[in-house]
Amino acid sequence: WPLMAPTIKAINELKKARNAVILAHNYQAPEIFHCVADIGGDSLQLAVEATKVKADTIVQCGVHFMAETSKLLNPDKTVLIPDPRAGCSLAASIAGADVRLLRGKFPGVPVVAYVNTSAEVKAEVDICCTSSNAVQVVESLNAPSVIFLPDRYLATYVASKTDVKIIAWKGACEVHERFTGEELRAFREADPTVQIIAHPECPPDVLAEADFTGSTAHMINWVRNKRPRRLVMITECSMADNVRAELPEVEMLRPCNLCPHMKRITLANILDSLLTLREEVTIDPALAERARRSVERMINLKN
Ligand code: 13P
Ligand code: SF4
Repeated sequence: WPLMAPTIKAINELKKARNAVILAHNYQAPEIFHCVADIGGDSLQLAVEATKVKADTIVQCGVHFMAETSKLLNPDKTVLIPDPRAGCSLAASIAGADVRLLRGKFPGVPVVAYVNTSAEVKAEVDICCTSSNAVQVVESLNAPSVIFLPDRYLATYVASKTDVKIIAWKGACEVHERFTGEELRAFREADPTVQIIAHPECPPDVLAEADFTGSTAHMINWVRNKRPRRLVMITECSMADNVRAELPEVEMLRPCNLCPHMKRITLANILDSLLTLREEVTIDPALAERARRSVERMINLKN
């Protein structure tokens, strides 16, 4: 990334001067993920790492709900997001009032929220989960049925892995819902040796074609272990770019879909964020207290 070198250098210098760390999701572009991030990972890894940050300031390279999660876990630190418009179709699909209505409709049924939700929603639920621990979280509740929100496809995937009855919300990820089983079958027909791995936010007909399904971190680990010759990664495009930078011998076949929200974060606005200390993520303390409980319950399950 030679043209970007001066900006990368400036970010890395300013990061030290500000006593800041950069947390980046696996969907961030390679020049961010590999050149300026201190910690990279999936949603669960980023939440766990956020609990260990010693620096004064966190710059979250990801979408808004991820920055909110870091703020929930670090109420006394400055958490910055380089573009606060970096949203998520899942987080936008449900509000706190919807959770209260669901609780009224299904009294006594525990509520699990995917971390891809606002702090307002997290404050209304019993526990959070990510795509890497969703089944474990659902089963930890020891309940015959569980409300699982907001991703209907992740809910279907979880339901296929547990005997717990899953009551789903209607949200979907605008990136993963666009893949089809048909396009994957076409890849297999063209080359029967190709390996296909998919994120559980994909529709069931897509997952039915996959050799492996898992969170972004689980997908990366699968590639590291299996080293397939030719691979289709059914997820956001930067994942394949980031894995290719690490494992150039694996031939990545497209398709992939871009997340427009993740792509709002750029080297230019990261530098700007460190220079101006904006945009700072703030959460009402009373709401944050309740939302933090849901995230911490999930994190504590791990240990
Ligand atoms: P994970 O990295 O936790 O698998 O999440 C994927 C995603 O879509 C985040 O927005
Ligand atoms: Fe949300 Fe999907 Fe983008 Fe992830 S990839 S931030 S789930 S819209």
